[in-house]
Amino acid sequence: MQATVWFTGLSGAGKSTVANTLQEMLESLAVPAVRLDGDDLREGLCSDLGFSQEDRDENIRRVGELSILFAKTGQLTLVTVISPFRVPRRMVRARHESCGIPFVEVFVATPLGVCEERDPKGLYARARRGELKTFTGVSAPYEAPESPELVLDTAGQSPEESAEHVFSLLEDLELIDKP
Ligand code: ADX
Repeated sequence: MQATVWFTGLSGAGKSTVANTLQEMLESLAVPAVRLDGDDLREGLCSDLGFSQEDRDENIRRVGELSILFAKTGQLTLVTVISPFRVPRRMVRARHESCGIPFVEVFVATPLGVCEERDPKGLYARARRGELKTFTGVSAPYEAPESPELVLDTAGQSPEESAEHVFSLLEDLELIDKP
C-alpha cells in the first residue's frame, strides 16, 4: 500500500528501533515496506549536508521526495529522521497530499532525559562537553509536532508495543488490511 510513515523525534528516542520492529512485523505478513534512515542517508545522498537549520531543511526536503518515490512503487515507506523543524515537516506533508500519498506522522516523544541516558552513540555527552555546536535537544531546538497522527513515548513501552501501536493505526487508516 502506498504511504509514508514519518517518525520524528530526538536522537536516541527510538525511531529506528520502532521502525525496524514494525518492518519485521510487516515482512512477516508479506506487506512490502522500505526503511529510509537519517544516518544511512547522510552517508551518501545527503553527505554534503551538515546540521545547520538550512542543511537540515534540505535534508528533510530530499528525504521527503525520496519517500514519495518509494511510496509510489506501492511500498509502505518508513522514514526515521529527527526532522526537528515544523515548517519542513509541514512541507513534506503537503507534497505527499499533492501527490495523493497518505502521510502518517509519528512523534516518538521519548523525553530528552531518557534519550540522554541511553546516549547510544555518545553524542549527548559530546554535546554537553560543547563539542557538537548544534546538537538537537542540547544546543539546537526540537519543535514537537502539533498534530501528529500518533504520539509514542518509548520510555514506557517496549519496541514491540510501540510498533503494535503504529501497526494498529495503519490498520485503522486502512493502509494495511485487517485479517
Ligand atoms: S535531521 O535533523 O536532519 O533530521 P538526521 O535524522 O538526518 O537529522 O540525522 C540525525 C543523526 O545524525 C543523529 O542520529 C546522529 O547520529 C547524527 N548527528 C550528528 N551530529 C548531529 C547534530 N548536531 N544534531 C543531531 N544529530 C546529529
